[in-house]
Amino acid sequence: MTAATIRQPKRLADYQPPSFLVSKTDLSFELDPTATRVSATLTFQRNGAGIMILDGQQLKLISLRLNGQMLTDKDYRLTEDSLEIVKPGNSGVLEIVTELNPDQNSALEGLYLAEGVYCTQCEAEGFRRITYYPDRPDVLAVFTTTIIADSSQLPFLLSNGNKVSETLLSDGRTAVKWHDPFPKPAYLFALVAGDFDCLTDAYVTASGRQVSLEFYVQKGALSRSHFAMAALKRAMHWDEQRFGLEYDLDRYMVVAVDFFNMGAMENKGLNVFNSKYVLADDSSATDQDYFNIESIIGHEYFHNWTGNRVTCRDWFQLSLKEGLTVFRDQEFSADMGSATLNRIEAVKLIRTAQFAEDASPMAHPIRPEQVLEMNNFYTVTVYDKGAEVIRMLQTILGKTGFNAGLKCYLDRHDGQAVTCDDFVQAMQDATGQDLTQFRRWYSQSGTPEVKVQEHYDATSARLTLKLHQHTPVTADQTIKQPLLMPMRIELLFSNAGSSMRQLLLLSNEEQEFQFDGIHEQPLIVWLEDFSAPVKLSTHYQPEQLLLIAGRATNGFARWDAMQQYWSLLISKAVTGGLLPQLPAELVSLFKQLLQQPLADIALTAELLALPDFDTLAEQYTEIPVDALLSCLAHLTQQLAEALAIELTACYQRFDSIAYHYNEQGVALRALKGRCLHYLAFTNEGEHWVNQHYRQADNMTDQLTALKAAQYAELATSNSLLEDFAKRYQHNVQVMDKYFSLVATTPNDAVFTHLDRLTQHSLFSWKNPNRVRAVFGAFSQRNAKQFHRADGRGYQLLAQIVTKLDPINPQLAARLLTPLLSWQRYDQQRQHLLAGLLKALAAQASLSNDVFEKVSKSLP
Ligand code: PHE
Ligand code: ZN
Repeated sequence: MTAATIRQPKRLADYQPPSFLVSKTDLSFELDPTATRVSATLTFQRNGAGIMILDGQQLKLISLRLNGQMLTDKDYRLTEDSLEIVKPGNSGVLEIVTELNPDQNSALEGLYLAEGVYCTQCEAEGFRRITYYPDRPDVLAVFTTTIIADSSQLPFLLSNGNKVSETLLSDGRTAVKWHDPFPKPAYLFALVAGDFDCLTDAYVTASGRQVSLEFYVQKGALSRSHFAMAALKRAMHWDEQRFGLEYDLDRYMVVAVDFFNMGAMENKGLNVFNSKYVLADDSSATDQDYFNIESIIGHEYFHNWTGNRVTCRDWFQLSLKEGLTVFRDQEFSADMGSATLNRIEAVKLIRTAQFAEDASPMAHPIRPEQVLEMNNFYTVTVYDKGAEVIRMLQTILGKTGFNAGLKCYLDRHDGQAVTCDDFVQAMQDATGQDLTQFRRWYSQSGTPEVKVQEHYDATSARLTLKLHQHTPVTADQTIKQPLLMPMRIELLFSNAGSSMRQLLLLSNEEQEFQFDGIHEQPLIVWLEDFSAPVKLSTHYQPEQLLLIAGRATNGFARWDAMQQYWSLLISKAVTGGLLPQLPAELVSLFKQLLQQPLADIALTAELLALPDFDTLAEQYTEIPVDALLSCLAHLTQQLAEALAIELTACYQRFDSIAYHYNEQGVALRALKGRCLHYLAFTNEGEHWVNQHYRQADNMTDQLTALKAAQYAELATSNSLLEDFAKRYQHNVQVMDKYFSLVATTPNDAVFTHLDRLTQHSLFSWKNPNRVRAVFGAFSQRNAKQFHRADGRGYQLLAQIVTKLDPINPQLAARLLTPLLSWQRYDQQRQHLLAGLLKALAAQASLSNDVFEKVSKSLP
């Protein structure tokens, strides 16, 4: 196959139903590190016109039989990525034997062997690396899987569904047979074989079904899997309560592996997790780790209905399952902890990575229209903007309407592979709400910009609000239409405590809303709870923002007002070419917050935070890197100096309580951590940071101290880091945190450090967690060194991408992302970045993953 044919993108508009369906798929694996044999028996039926063409990649075809007859060369056509059966007939049984080399599989797609564990990853198009198959989500089959291996070395042989039998073969090997009664697409197939410790528990569903829960983790890690198990039970219970959805098999298995490209995978009845999102205990996990575990455990569990029972017709519909399931996991997390904090974190992600993606050469709607490499579309747009779109539906339809819509969707499409349109249609049919215009959110890319104007007329007691929406063109799309968006607002009146909340539905490009009987001019809180994923521009005075920060009912809105306050201050300074000065009214507000933290301490901690670099960056067409970094450093220093006394008092006011991961503990650590972050910049910085580190009985506090020391460039930073590395040298997950910390060193030394890290005995280019810990952290969390004006940071990342592409293209393409947005920087940086991208593009044998991104980014 020539390069030109490999690089042919697929288009949503070209979708054709499969010409053949497979009703039964029987698989048998004889495991071997370098020569695993796979026998696949497919029972197929014709479904429409067309030839029978099966997908297959990097496979060695051993034999092929049709209805028992051996096929020869003339009966089939083999290419590098397909197998055509010349005369398949209208139905029949096809037997395919292939051979694989799991040991050589460093891309971690298909069947791979890593650290003694055989593991599969089939989403999106990995099953075609196991056998020839119609590897598309609209072909649903009932799978029966037999795994044959030496059980003294591989005591656990797992696959989807229920275990049917376990037989000792005459040659001493063991054959274990699994059957999954639910028809599923190949991307949900999984096989795992290895030696593990197993944590088991049980769950009884609302209707009384007994489910065995099993966590398979690396030997010795059992004590670190209890939290994940408890989180799973909470998720199962929550989905019953909130949506009336129960689990449907007798077993739910979760395997934790250290080699994994993503967070986790929802294979039917057999989730595979990146061990980072399963293993945790109080001495090694941070509050953030615990949060992530609960949310990802929830996410994969929720997929059992939204993804598995009802799946996608084609990969362009990915957001059908991912946007919806992210929304579901967000709602779950909000119920398990602080809803406000959850909302803040979700919005930060949209305003940084998602807005950046919309403004980049990779811009795409939540339902992409054209894809070269599907792995490139597991994006913040499809996932997180997708979740915002679902959230808007809930806002528009109300919780009751939304629940009814979801029920209609699942009842109507159970067992089917469907489209985003089917989903919206169910929402519409269940509620009677016309969602025609709303559907544009699925086809239109880009970040809408909304401008607001207010006019108050005292004599008629009338308030008029004028809204204007506009979506700027994106790299993929020039024509944009007005969207239907819910705008939550609150009108604050001078009488403290008096306010009015409203939901406006904006549908036209320009629209007016009138309120009568308004007897004074209110202060308006716009876009409460970030009710639509847009950029909003307002005409607030700084004092008004501080008022909102103090008074808005919605916690998110209070935080958002503070963020806008800082953005305004910083943008004035950037425009004027000056450093910002701390306004007195801000200092007094911060004093007040430090002396009397709100009842919601977690929110106080957030109100005291400056916006991060990435959030600010997305507010500029050309990102003023150096100016933003100096403004942030300067403001931090000024806050520390102006508030040293109050920060110290607040820091000391809350006695450290013994570590426990719960809402109150998280909030306390966050507030103390915020204080420490500023205190590090005072004269007493070394003292506070050292003490915080030494007294810490948990990972969160240790990392807070290390980060504070590093950001303030304290002398003690290096020795603390060394101490940390020594203490945790045997825990690779904690060492990943160490790697990331070192990679975010804010000075020149980082380059020598990075080099040293890649020589570390724990580092491996084949392990995505290690590579991300080092180079993901460097490129995404070390703006100062990554964006150096001399291009050294960019060069390094380009080198790493080149090195990784042949090893793991998915990983290489993900790491590449920050280089793509070259047009967002000044001339000098643009020039450097464009040069590197051109050099990358000129390389022979680039993967489709890297090729697609690089070629889109060049004019
Ligand atoms: N479907 C997985 C999830 O979001 C993500 C994933 C995609 C994992 C592709 C592996 C490969 O839950
Ligand atoms: Zn998912």
